[in-house]
Order: sequence, then structure tokens, then C-alpha cells
Amino acid sequence: MNDVPWRLVCTDCGTSYPGLESRYRCDCFGTLDVNHDFRRFRLPSLSVLDARLASRTPIDRSGVWRFREFILPLPTEHIVTRREGNTNLYDAPSVARYTGVEQLFLKHEGENPTGSFVDRGMSVAMSVARQLGATRVACASTGNTSASMASYAAVAGMRAFAFVPEGQITDAKLSQTLAFGAKVIRVAGTFDTIMTLVEDFCESERITLVNALNPFRIEGQKAIGWELMQDLDWEVPDWLVLPGGNLGNASAIYKSLQEMYDLGLLHRLPRFAVIQPEGANSLYKAFLTADSLVPIPTPTTLLSAIRIGNPVCWKKGLRAVHATDGVVEEVSDQETFDVKAIVDKAGIGAESTACTTIAGVKKLVDGGVIESHERVCCILTGHILKEHDSVLAYHHATMPNITAHFANTPILADASIQAIKRATDS
Ligand code: F0G
Repeated sequence: MNDVPWRLVCTDCGTSYPGLESRYRCDCFGTLDVNHDFRRFRLPSLSVLDARLASRTPIDRSGVWRFREFILPLPTEHIVTRREGNTNLYDAPSVARYTGVEQLFLKHEGENPTGSFVDRGMSVAMSVARQLGATRVACASTGNTSASMASYAAVAGMRAFAFVPEGQITDAKLSQTLAFGAKVIRVAGTFDTIMTLVEDFCESERITLVNALNPFRIEGQKAIGWELMQDLDWEVPDWLVLPGGNLGNASAIYKSLQEMYDLGLLHRLPRFAVIQPEGANSLYKAFLTADSLVPIPTPTTLLSAIRIGNPVCWKKGLRAVHATDGVVEEVSDQETFDVKAIVDKAGIGAESTACTTIAGVKKLVDGGVIESHERVCCILTGHILKEHDSVLAYHHATMPNITAHFANTPILADASIQAIKRATDS
């Protein structure tokens, strides 16, 4: 089974392990990368990748498996897919105007089957788990990973255990996870504490861990980069902007672009900008001080998806930033919720965490880091319906510590023609 054209390689010490193993760390505790040997088989040309867009076979219809030779060449019978990916790339002039750049693209990963970018990584992690004969999967989650895992585990016929920080994930995400049939364990603690616990639990119980620590999740999320470049007709943007939580996405998208560059498909890399909320900004601080990451024990932000103080993939995330001459920026929750109102009002809508990217672009333009003529692409990581509670609180202007600058408060009217006319005129 292990004669596969890739190896698992430690990002810290370079030790290499066989490609197909349930292994998430090196013996030195470093995280692992999938290192492909792309010379072992014939790679498809860009026109073949384009032709697959018109195919009707499930794996070609998936925005992950359409790029399978570059993602992970698994036997088709093991592939667990919900035709993930195929997300829209919007250009939103009103949002661009707000940020001050002329060309702003929004890659909407919230349009995945369970409403977040995670589905791409989950499809690959679950497929490898199936190939390895696993029957149980688990994750620690702020809600999107758990919803995605629950759905893909149901499709694959596996049992799923979701460990979530009690009271800290949105009702929408909790509902999805329960409805798809995962066993949900609510733990009193931060995401970071639970992450460590679950890693140990999975190891001792021999359960497959499907967090971003799983190197195959990262390979799946690389497809964001592949699909984005296909959307852009292989013209590299100047900036790629994404939220920073556990930093799986930053690691994955950078890896995809670096691999494309090494294969001669791109002539340069975009600069990465990773955006964190002020209250959960451990990578931002590490970037500023050029130092090791100091975990934040109690991250405080309204953005529950990235209320993370000790990102497991921080070294890989920082590698993406440094290798692309990128930056890490922080934004306040106030800035994020203002931007969210604008993205929502543009008719696109996104989860608040996703909107940190656009708040970050505005701040970087105001600070002279991004120039207004540069082509900028933001990754919107989650769907607007992931958190209706905070949308309602914002528009009712009842959100704690947030001034609802763009509130669209509903109007109460009596059931009479005069009253509804008055309401529409107000
Ligand atoms: N955006 C959303 C909507 C998320 O749910 C997450 C992370 C991120 C961004 C951060 O991405 O970890 O790749 O830097 N959600 C995880 C979860 C932690 O459990 O759903 P990252």
C-alpha cells in the first residue's frame, strides 16, 4: 500500500516517513508535509484540467479531485466526495471601493457543500482514512470542521466524534454537526485545550484525526489555490488574503502555489496577507517580533471560528508569509463587523471570520502596504448562514461592544395599509 508517489516529511527536521500512514507528527513533534514526486506519472496539462470542467464523472465534478494528480493521486474507489469546491470567484465593486483597491476578487469558499472551505480538506482526509481502513474519525472544532467531518463521515459510513468548546460555537454549526449524525462532546475549555486533548485521545484510541494537523487535509485545501488560478486563467494576483486561525489554509494555499511555481505553471507567487483578530493575534505578534509564537491562553474575539490562541500549523503559516514576502495584520472586531455588513449588503454575504480579510485589505491599503492598483484576492472561508445570531444582533444594534454603523433594523408595523405605508416611507 505504501508504494505511493509521495512521502510525509517533517517541516522541522526533515525526517521522511512512508506516504500512507495515520501519522500527524514527526517523532520530534514537528508537523508533516506531503512531499510529492510529480515525476512518477504523467501530469495533466492545463487544457485537460479545463476539459474536466465539462465532464460528468463525480471526481471530475469535484473542485478537489479535478486536480487529483496535484492533490493526492488516490484510487477512485476510496474517494469520498460531495463534489466540493467549484466555488464562485466574485468581483464586488462596492466592496472593492470600501477597501480602496480597484480590483478585488472574492473566492467564496462558503459555497462548499457544508458551507465552509473545510470540505475540500475533509474530502481528502476522509478518502485517505477510508483507504487505510479507518472506521472512526474525530476532530476538535470551532464548528466548521465538525460540520464538515460529520457530513463526510456520514457519506463514508464512519463514526464521527466532534469535540467543541462549550458555549463557543454558533447554533448553526452545532445544528449541522448534530444533524449529520456526529457524536458531539461539549468540553469546558478553549479550542486550544481541546485540540491537545483530542490529539492525545486519537492517538491512544487509534481514531483518525481530521483537523488541519492531518497532512492530507492540507492537500485537499490546496485545491483552493488550484481552482483560484484556474478561475483567474492562471494570471497570478498581487495579493492573496486569508483569515488566520489554525493556519491550515495559509499553509495549504501557499503549498499549492509553490508547487505550481516549481512545475513551471506560474511565473511568480502572490504575496500572502494573513489577517487575525486583535484578541487572537498570536501569529501577528510572532511576525512583528520575528520570534517564536507565544500562545494566547484566553483568546478574546467575537469571531468564534478563529478564537484560537495556539495555532497548530503556525510554522507552516509563517513559512507561507515569509516565502511570499507577505505580511500578517490584525483587525478589530468592530472593523470586521462593519466590513461584514458591506459584504452582506453587496448580496454576497459571508461568515464574519471570512470578512477579516476585507477589513485587513482596507487597513493594509490605508497603511500603504497594498497599493490601490494591485490585484487582490480574498478567501471568504464561510457562509453567511453559519451565524444568524450575530447577524441579527448587529442589525438590531444589540451586539456587545460593537457600534452597528450599517444596521438595517427591521420595522414593526400594525396590520393596516396606513401603517405599512408609513413603515416603507420611513
Ligand atoms: N475561517 C473560518 C470560517 C473557519 O471556520 C476557520 C477555522 C478559519 C477561517 C481559520 O482557518 O484554521 O485554516 O487558519 N475553523 C476551524 C474549525 C478551526 O474548527 O472549524 P485556518
